[in-house]
Amino acid sequence: MMKKVLFATSEAYPLIKTGGLADVSGSLPAALHALGQDVRILMPGYASAIAAGQFKPVKVLQEDRGIAILEGPLPGSTVPVWLLTHNDYFDRPGNPYLGPDGQPWPDNPERFSLLSHVAVEIAMDRLGLGWKPDLVHCNDWQTGLAPALLADEPNRPATVFTIHNLAYQGVFPYERFLKLHLPSRFWSSEALEFYGQFSFIKGGLVFSDRINTVSPTYAKEIQSPEFGYGLEGLLKHRRARLSGILNGIDANAWNPATDPLIPVNYDVQSIASRRYNKLALQKSFRLNQDETIFVLAWVGRLVQQKGIDLIIDLLPQLMRMPLQMIVLGSGEARYEQTLRQWARLYPDRIAIKLGYDEASAHLVEAGTDLFLMPSRFEPCGLNQMYSQRYGAVPLVRRVGGLADTVADANPIHLGAGTATGIVFDEATADALYQAIGRGFALYQNPMVWRKIQQAGMSKDFSWEFSAQHYLTLYDLALNDRAKAESLLRRAAVS
Ligand code: ADP
Ligand code: GLC
Repeated sequence: MMKKVLFATSEAYPLIKTGGLADVSGSLPAALHALGQDVRILMPGYASAIAAGQFKPVKVLQEDRGIAILEGPLPGSTVPVWLLTHNDYFDRPGNPYLGPDGQPWPDNPERFSLLSHVAVEIAMDRLGLGWKPDLVHCNDWQTGLAPALLADEPNRPATVFTIHNLAYQGVFPYERFLKLHLPSRFWSSEALEFYGQFSFIKGGLVFSDRINTVSPTYAKEIQSPEFGYGLEGLLKHRRARLSGILNGIDANAWNPATDPLIPVNYDVQSIASRRYNKLALQKSFRLNQDETIFVLAWVGRLVQQKGIDLIIDLLPQLMRMPLQMIVLGSGEARYEQTLRQWARLYPDRIAIKLGYDEASAHLVEAGTDLFLMPSRFEPCGLNQMYSQRYGAVPLVRRVGGLADTVADANPIHLGAGTATGIVFDEATADALYQAIGRGFALYQNPMVWRKIQQAGMSKDFSWEFSAQHYLTLYDLALNDRAKAESLLRRAAVS
C-alpha cells in the first residue's frame, strides 16, 4: 500500500553532504519512491543546498526573518524536497553544523529546533501544503524534537527515528531548553532531560513509535555501555521497538562500470583494467606511478571514531614496508597537522588530500588495493561497501555495520570463495598492523587477491532489500500507532 512519508533530515546528497547521513538521505527516499511510496524530504535550506538544486518558494512563514518553504526535486530524481529557509539560521556559508573555528554553531539548538517544529507543522498539515503524511521518518538528533512534539498531537502520523550515530546526541545546558520554550513536562528524565542536561536525541528515542539504526550489529552494540554513551538503559528498555536495517548504497552513483568520475570503467569481468585507475590515482596524489606496489588508502572524517590515530601510530612501521599510503579527509586539526608532517617526510610514499573531494573519493575506490576502516565504532559505514563494489579490498574492524558487510579472508571463507576483505578485532595499532600484514601477504598471491576482489564485486549492496525492510518497519510503526490510538479512545469512552 502506498504510504505518505515525511523524511526529515539535516543533510541529503547531492544538495549537501558531510558524511553518510547525506548518502542515505539522498538514496533511501529515492529507493522508497521507486517502490511506489510518496516520500518527501524536509531539510534546512542552507545557502549551498539552495544553489545545488532548482527550488521555488511555496510557502512564506515569516517574511521578515526569511522563514519559508522552498520546493524542488532532489537532483537526479523526482523525490520532492522541501527546504526550510531562515535568514539567520541557515543562510550562512560552510559546514551545516560547525563554524569556521571547527566548533558547533552556537545557535544549533535554535536552528534544529526550528527544523523539528516545521516538521511537526507539515506532519499535521497545518502549513497549507495540502499533504498529510502517514508517517514521519526522523534522522539523528537534529530532528529528535519532532517525535516529542508530535507525541501529544491528536491524529498524529506514526513516527520512526533512525540513529545514524549515537555519539552525536545534541546535548545542551538546561538554559537552552528554557530558551526554546518547550513544554515544561519535557523536563524529566523520562523525556528530554539527560543527566541534568537537555538532549535532542532523547526526543527521538523516547517518543518515536519505532527506533532503528543502520546495521543489525550496531542495534545490539548500542544496548551496551561501551557503545551506548549513557543511552544504553533507555535503548534496552525500548528494545522491543528497536531494530537494525543495513544501509544500502546508491548503486548508480557508485558503479565502476559507469562511474564518470574515474578514468577507466570496469566490472567484475574486467578487473584487470583497474590498474589504469591505480596509476591515475598515484598520479593524482603525486606518488610514484607503480602498478605493482601495494597501495593502502583511507577516506573519511579525521576523527577518533574512524581510528585514524591508529594509522598515524603505525606510520613508522608501515614506512618500513614496500607500500604507499593515501589519505583523503578532513576533520580535527591535530590529525591534519600530523598527517601533513608525515607526507612531507615521505613525499613519494605518503600522500594526503585535506578537504572534501567527491571525485577523489571515487578515484580512490577505483584504484587502491586496500581500503582501511579501523573504526572504533561504525553504525554502518558506506565506504567498505563502495570498496567491495569497486574491487578495493576493505580492511575493517569487527564492529557495527563493518562486521555485517565484510567477510574475513579466513581459511573457511577463502576456501568457500566468500572472503571479501580483512576483519580484525582489537582497536590497537598492533592488531591493525597484524591485519595489514595479512593483507600484504594475500596481495602477494594475485590469484587469491583476485578471488577476494571478485567476491566483493559480486555482492549486492543496493537499496533493494533494505528499502523493503523500511517498508516493513513503517508498517510496524503504523500498527503501534493505531493500537495506541484505539487504547486512548477506549480509555476516553470508559
Ligand atoms: P560517516 O557518515 O560516519 O562519515 P560513512 O562511511 O557512512 O561515514 O560515510 C562517509 C561518506 O562520506 C562516504 O560517502 C565517503 O566517501 C564520504 N567522505 C568522507 N570524507 C570524504 C572526503 N574527504 N572527500 C570525499 N568524500 C568523503
Ligand atoms: C553515520 C555513521 C556511519 C553511517 C552513516 C549513515 O554517520 O557514522 O557509520 O554509515 O551515519 O547511516
